[in-house]
Amino acid sequence: MNIRSIARPEIVAMKPYVSARNSAASDGILLNANEAPYPLVEDAQWQRLSLNRYPSQQPAQLKARLAGLYAVAESNLLLTRGSDEGIDLLTRVFCRPGRDAIVECSPCFGMYRIAATIQGAQVIDVRRLAGNGLRIDFSKLERVINDQSAIRLVFLTSPNNPTGDLIERVELERVLKACQDKALVVLDEAYIEFSGAESAIGLLGQYPQLVVLRTLSKAWAAAGVRCGTVIADAEVINLLQRVIAPYPLAATVVDAALRATSGDTISRQQRLLEMVREGKRDLLEFLTTRDWVTELWGGEANFVLMRLAAAGELVNWCADHGIRIRDFSSQPMLEGCVRLTIGNPDEMTELKSALQAYGERA
Ligand SMILES: Cc1ncc(COP(=O)(O)O)c(C=O)c1O
Repeated sequence: MNIRSIARPEIVAMKPYVSARNSAASDGILLNANEAPYPLVEDAQWQRLSLNRYPSQQPAQLKARLAGLYAVAESNLLLTRGSDEGIDLLTRVFCRPGRDAIVECSPCFGMYRIAATIQGAQVIDVRRLAGNGLRIDFSKLERVINDQSAIRLVFLTSPNNPTGDLIERVELERVLKACQDKALVVLDEAYIEFSGAESAIGLLGQYPQLVVLRTLSKAWAAAGVRCGTVIADAEVINLLQRVIAPYPLAATVVDAALRATSGDTISRQQRLLEMVREGKRDLLEFLTTRDWVTELWGGEANFVLMRLAAAGELVNWCADHGIRIRDFSSQPMLEGCVRLTIGNPDEMTELKSALQAYGERA
C-alpha cells in the first residue's frame, strides 16, 4: 500500500522544520538553540533534567522503553502528548479540509469528531446497532468504506468508550481489507490492558494501513503525564513526524513516563488491574439487582455504562454526595445513560451507598 498517496499532498511536499536538537548532537557546548546557559532554579530535579535546555523531540530512552513495552521497532512508533495528539496529527496529515472524511461508529470517544471538525474534514457516522448491545454494524461499515472514496481514516476503539465492547479480530481484518489502498484504520486501544485481550499491534506487518493508539493515561495510571504512542507503518510515522511540534514532550513528562513504566511499577500495575476488575465485578453485581437500572454494559474496560429513567437526576444526586459521574444522556442512542469509572475500594463503597440511597429516596 502506498501510504503517501493517501496523505495530504502539501504535507508530503513540505520541507519539515528542523530544530536545533534534531539537526545536531545534544552534547558538547550547546550554542545552537538560543537557550540560557544555566538554570535559574537550583533544585536537584531542575538540574538533573536540564530544564534550561530544549528536550529531544523523540527522546531515545523513552522511545526504546515504549518500543519494548509494545513489542515494536522504534521506527514504527511516535511519542505524542497523549493519544489526543495522535488523533489530531493523523487527521491533519491525512484529511484535506473540505474534501476528505473520517468514519466513526458512535457512540464512541468524542475526540475523533472534534479533530475532524477542526480540520474541516467530513465526519461519516456509521451508528452502532441499537438492539444488539450497541455493537458496530460491520456490514454497513464495509459498505460505506467501499462506497465513499473521500474516506481517509476509519476510527475504531477496542475496548470502546463508553460501551466497553471489544472488536473481534475477524471483524477488524474485514475493515482492514476494505480499507486496503484507500484509508487508514486507526484502532484506539486506550483501555486494552483492562481487557486481557491481545493487542492488534501484531497485525502491523500484514496490514500497513493499520494504526494502533496506546496511552499511559489509563492502565499505567499516568493521565497527568500526557504521554501516548502512535504505532504504525514507518511511512505513517515519518509523515506524522513532519507535523508534530518540535518539542512536544516536556523533559518533566519524559522523566515521569520513564518512572511510570519502569520495572518497579509492573507488580503495582498488576494489583491495580486486579483491583479494578474486582471493583467492577462487585459494582456490576450491585447494579444488576437495582430495579431502577434498565440496561447495563459491563464491557471490558475500567468503567460501566448504565441506562435509567432519569440520568440527570442521578448525576445531580451523586454530585450532592461529592461523587462525579459522567452523563451521556444527550448523546444519540445513549438517552438515559451514565458512565461510572471504577475507583478505589473506598470510593466504590461511597458510590454504592449513594446509589443505595438514590434507590430508597421517597
Ligand atoms: C478511547 C479513548 N482514546 C483516547 C483517549 C485519550 O487518551 P490520552 O489521555 O492518551 O490523550 C481517551 C480518554 O478518555 C479515550 O477514552
